[in-house]
Parts: sequence; structure tokens; C-alpha cells
Amino acid sequence: MASKKLLLLPGDGIGPEAMAEVRKIIAYMNAELKSGFELDEGLVGGSAYDAHGKAISEADMEKALASDAVLFGAVGGPKWDSVPYDVRPEAGLLRLRKDMELFANLRPAICYPALADSSSLKKEVVEGLDILIVRELTGGVYFGEPKEIRDLGNGQKRGIDTQVYDTYEIERISGVAFELARTRGNKVTSMEKRNVMKSGVLWNEVVTATHRAKYFDVKLEHMLADAGGMQLVRWPKQFDVIVTDNLFGDMLSDIAAMLTGSLGMLPSASLGAPDAKTGSRKALYEPVHGSAPDIAGTGAANPIAMIASFAMCLRYSFNMVAEADRLEAAIAGVLDDGIRTADIMSEGKTKVGTTEMGDAILAKFKALA
Ligand code: NAI
Ligand code: MG
Repeated sequence: MASKKLLLLPGDGIGPEAMAEVRKIIAYMNAELKSGFELDEGLVGGSAYDAHGKAISEADMEKALASDAVLFGAVGGPKWDSVPYDVRPEAGLLRLRKDMELFANLRPAICYPALADSSSLKKEVVEGLDILIVRELTGGVYFGEPKEIRDLGNGQKRGIDTQVYDTYEIERISGVAFELARTRGNKVTSMEKRNVMKSGVLWNEVVTATHRAKYFDVKLEHMLADAGGMQLVRWPKQFDVIVTDNLFGDMLSDIAAMLTGSLGMLPSASLGAPDAKTGSRKALYEPVHGSAPDIAGTGAANPIAMIASFAMCLRYSFNMVAEADRLEAAIAGVLDDGIRTADIMSEGKTKVGTTEMGDAILAKFKALA
């Protein structure tokens, strides 16, 4: 059996509270399903800074690199607002992303039937929605050089960011998108702005060539990113997998996410390149939300984003597709039963806290076995 080394980095604020609910599921899977997860744990963010003055220690960084997958809670909070920039809590997450070379960020936007009424869009527009945004995470305008504010010497300054993409970066992110599409609706929509950006022209060319070379069975469509934004709110169900660059992906994934519900519901995955020998890839799974200092310690946090991140981990790191499906069905089932944390509460539903939500999902997961 392939190893299942799982590193838990709960972090700060509601991170540990949400992680506790995942721990229960893992304990059940190890005890009853003999899933064989080897758990390890580390500190990240403010809690790591308090312990050893860095947002993540070298020892925990090594654990992350040696693991098959990392489950990450959330970092940050007002307590650490004034710590030096390069050891601030977020630096821990950025270091993990960079050193693990997590170039592919996956953000699903799924509309749970029970929550179709609470979207800002019409029910028929979002009901049954299941799309996946694949965002390039380690290149583009966030990293390109030159990147500076230049003093022009005439009382003017110039702010400069540079959008840079090389062929290999576009090849590998589109490869991830095509592979994922094969496991879902078999369609990829690539978004760029080739009408005004040279990097967009190259993006379009390389995605097309990658498709032709290896993924001709998948349907490919190209869309200008601004038009794509429009289509996402007009008729999102036309999409299956969307692949796009770092900047457009940042915005489009936030838009797509909000089609369907609360921050407390949204999982994500960040994947690295497959190892040439073993085929296994580095991966980190985390909720989209932060440490929610306003509700931390009150037991009100919604653990669904964290639990759904673990479901993605089962699916993409361990190929435990049946278990992933079952865990996602358990989440949907609990919502169907009218059980709600405060952030997704509506009239006539049963309001519960973090622990009760976790317990209900685990009970449903067991019942679906
Ligand atoms: P946030 O996501 O922590 O909270 C935004 C709002 O959503 C808050 O009102 C919060 O109570 C609510 N919320 C978030 N997750 C929830 C959940 N699971 N259940 C119920 N309600 C939930 O973002 P905010 O307030 O901008 O940042 C707070 C701290 O988190 C900051 O220090 C920020 O830097 C950090 N942060 C960390 C991230 C990470 O670790 N990946 C991502 C975003 C923010
Ligand atoms: Mg964003």
C-alpha cells in the first residue's frame, strides 16, 4: 500500500477548531475503515511565531516536504498584527506554497441543493452547480520582474508589475486542468486576454498545443477572461473546469465561490508537479477562509470548508474517490437535514456549533458506509 503521511497544520484562530472535526473523521477512518493514515502535526502562523519566532520552523517545513499531503487550517489574527513582515503568520503559508512548488490552485464552486435558495443569484442559475477553477499559483504578475515603484525624478513615480509566463508553466497548469476534466465533465475553458496581452497570446497557444498533443478527448474552449467573468454570473453551469493565470484566477475564483455560499463552506487544494519516479505529487489542502478572530473560541465556526478540504485530499492525493464522494454526500445530507452553523443559518433550520456540525457529518458519513 502506498504511504499516507498526512501532516496537520491547524494554525491560529478557528483553524484548530475546524481541524478538530477533521481529526474525528480521520480517527474513525483509521479505526474502522483501516485507512492507514500516518498523522503528524506541526505549528504554523502565529502559533509557530509564539513558539519559536518564525511562521514555520525548519523542522515543520521538512515534515511538510516529506508528507504525502498537508492539511492546513488558517493563520493570522490581531495578536500578531505588529510582528515583523517576514515572520508574519501569512509568511508560513507562502513559504509552504513556494518550497512545495504548489503551482496549481483548485477551487471548486459547488452548490449544495439545500443552500440553493441562499445564493445571491436565482435558484435555477446555481442549483446543481459544480465547477472547478484551476488557478496558476506560482507565476504571473504576482512574481514577475521588474516589480518596483520607480522614482522618475520629476515628482512622478511609476508602479511596475510584470506579467511573465514561460511555456512550461502554461503546459503544466493546463495539464492539471485537462487531467481533472477527465474525472469530471470532460470540458476545459481556458481564460486569458490574448486581445491585449502577449502572455495571453502565449497562454492560448500553449493550452491549444497541450490539448492537441495529449488531451484531444477533452473538450476545450477559449474565453477572454473579462467575458468569462460575465458568463460566470450569467450562466455558471456552462462551465466544468476553468483554467486561468494567477491574477485572473484570484478574482474569478472569488467570484465563482460567492455564487454558492458562505466562506465557511469553501475548500481548496494546491498541487505540485508529479514526481518523475513515483507519480505522486506534493499537495496542501486548506479552507478558503482565514482565522476568523471575530468568532474564534466561541464554538461557532463552520467546519465544512475544512472537512470538504479533507475530502479533496482523499480524492486528489490518495485516490480514495469512494470515500471522498461519501464525505461530500455526508455534508450535503446534513445540510438537507436542516442542520446549520450560524454563518449559513436561515429560518426554520436547526442552529448548531462547530462540534455538533462535525459530529453530524461524521454520523452521516458512517451511515452512508
Ligand atoms: P476570515 O475569512 O478569517 O473572516 C471573514 C469573515 O467570515 C469573518 O466575519 C468570519 O467570522 C467569517 N468566517 C470565516 N470563516 C468562517 C467559518 N468557517 N465559519 C463561520 N464564519 C466564518 O477573513 P478576515 O477576517 O479578513 O481575516 C482574519 C485573519 O485571517 C487575518 O489575520 C487574515 O490575515 C487571516 N487570513 C488567513 C488566511 C489563511 O490562513 N489562508 C486567508 C484569509 C485571511
Ligand atoms: Mg483572493
